Amino acid sequence: MIIAIDGTTASGKGTIAKRLAAWYGLPHMDTGRLYRATAIAALKHSVPLNDEARLASIAASLDLDDFEESELRTADAGKAASVVSALPLVRKALFELQRAFALREGGALLDGRDIGTVIAPDADVKLWVDAAVEQRAERRWKELRANGDGVTLDRVIEQLRERDMRDQNRADAPAKMAADAVLIDTTDLTIEAAVEKALAAVEAVLARGNRT
Ligand code: C5P
Repeated sequence: MIIAIDGTTASGKGTIAKRLAAWYGLPHMDTGRLYRATAIAALKHSVPLNDEARLASIAASLDLDDFEESELRTADAGKAASVVSALPLVRKALFELQRAFALREGGALLDGRDIGTVIAPDADVKLWVDAAVEQRAERRWKELRANGDGVTLDRVIEQLRERDMRDQNRADAPAKMAADAVLIDTTDLTIEAAVEKALAAVEAVLARGNRT
């Protein structure tokens, strides 16, 4: 079984993905880490974020063990990831890795922006996780503050809007809900309630599949 979880930044998609992967015993790939690591590696080696050929070659030879989780999770890494992820050669360099993961024997769960539309359009279950931008920003802001980042809430709202715009309007694999995805709106939900809702949605899709 392949489960594809896409959605907007700080919508709760990452937590939902981890919890569903554990529930169903599926290996999980957080595909955002690939774009974040590509961007961080470029910044470390002073490669301009518009040098598509060099960025693609960085993406093709990534070793995620070279990166600390804390450096991948910063707001700057997210922003830079969103810039490099708009480059078609970077997406191409990361495609096979993700596709092979999706096709693992025994199934897989991947989360990102284009899993249900590009990486695994054949997924058994697709979720699109979203929430109001103010709510998402507040969650992200708390996370950043806890990590010692002094950014203001207004600035985080602005950054998320920018990121949504860039992710949804790029020409190659824009972030969008697949036609057959189930929407999970987490605006007014605690993380526990959001996970339960996502789990119920997956169960409903599987039950429908089993009847046909
Ligand atoms: O999900 P996360 O915030 O870690 O992703 C960072 C950035 O990587 C996103 O804003 C998006 O631009 C890019 N991304 C993508 N396709 C994916 C996963 C992430 O373009 N499948």
